[in-house]
Amino acid sequence: MLSKIVLPQRVEPTNIDQLIAQFKDDTENQKVLIVDLSSVEYITPTGLVATVAYLKKWRSKKEQKQIKFIYPSECSNALSYMARMNFFTVVGENFTYPYTVRTAEDRLCEITEIKSASEAGSVINRIMGIIETRTKISSGLSTSVGEIIDNAFHHSSSELPCYVCAQYYPNLRKVEVAIVDCGIGYRGSLSRVHRDLKDDKHAIKLALQKNVTGNIENNKRLNTGLGLYVTKKIIEMNRGKMLIYTGKGMCIIEKTENFYDVPKWGGTLVSLEFNTEIGVDVKKIFDEMEGENFFELDDSMFEDL
Ligand SMILES: Nc1ncnc2c1ncn2[C@@H]1O[C@H](COP(=O)(O)OP(=O)(O)O)[C@@H](O)[C@H]1O
Ligand SMILES: [Mg+2]
Repeated sequence: MLSKIVLPQRVEPTNIDQLIAQFKDDTENQKVLIVDLSSVEYITPTGLVATVAYLKKWRSKKEQKQIKFIYPSECSNALSYMARMNFFTVVGENFTYPYTVRTAEDRLCEITEIKSASEAGSVINRIMGIIETRTKISSGLSTSVGEIIDNAFHHSSSELPCYVCAQYYPNLRKVEVAIVDCGIGYRGSLSRVHRDLKDDKHAIKLALQKNVTGNIENNKRLNTGLGLYVTKKIIEMNRGKMLIYTGKGMCIIEKTENFYDVPKWGGTLVSLEFNTEIGVDVKKIFDEMEGENFFELDDSMFEDL
C-alpha cells in the first residue's frame, strides 16, 4: 500500500494548515510514502521544519520504511532552496545541491536537528546573530527564540528531536524562525495542571498568559510561565507575527490574536516573524512586569526549593 503527500505550490505560515492536512496519522503502517514535490514553488522555514518533522516521525515508526520523492521535471528554485536548507540531507535523501554553497551565516540557518537542550545553544546563537545583524531589536531577544526551543525540551515529552530553521527576507523586511516538535502539545502538557481545558485553542490561549505553566516538577526556577508571554510581547512591540500550531488548534498573533480550528499536528509548531524595521526594547517588557510586583510573587514560589 502506498500513501502520498503533495506539497502545495506555496508553503508558508499563512497556509501551513494546508500542508499539515496532508500529514495523515493512518499512514504509519505503510512501508512506502510518496512525497510529491513537483508543484512546490515557494517554501519557507515553517513549511520546511513541519515537513521534515513529519517525515522523520513517519520513518521512526518502523524499520525499512521508504520515502520516495517525486521531483519536478526541472530543478526549480524551490527545490534548490530546499537542498540549500539541508532538507534532503536531514531526511536522508541523496540529492545534491546544484550550485556552489555560499556561506550565509547572517542570512539563514539551515534546518537543524536538535536532540537535547544542551545542543540548542549554538543554534540559538546562530539565529540570534541573524536577528541582531538584520533587525533593530535589542539584545535580550534570546528570550524569545531560546524560550521556544527550550519549551520543546521541557514540555513536549517527545523522544524525537526538534527541528529549527530561519531565513532573512530583505525585500519582505522580515526574519522567519520556525521551531517544531512531535510531542504531546500544549493541551497534553497543560492538562496535567489545568483539568478544565476545552480544546487545543483553549490550551494555547492559557499558555500565552503570564505565569501559566504546565510544569509540575520541581524546576520552578526554569519554568515560570513567562516564555510565551514575553515572546508574544516582543512580537507585538515589533509588529511581527507569531503562529502557534498544536494539536487541532492554531493561533496567529498579528496586531490581534486569532484562533482557528485546523487539521491535527501531533506536536507543536511555532513560527516567529520578526519585522526588521521596528526596534524593541526587551528590557522595557521586564521592567513593566517588575512594576506589577511579578518577581516578588515569584520569589515566594521558590520558598520550598
Ligand atoms: N513545545 C511544547 N510542547 C508542549 N507544551 C508546551 C510547549 N511549549 C509550551 N508548552 C506549554 O505552555 C506552557 C507555557 O509555556 P511558557 O510560557 O514557555 O512557560 P514555561 O516554559 O515557563 O512553563 C508550558 O508550561 C507548557 O505547558
Ligand atoms: Mg518556557
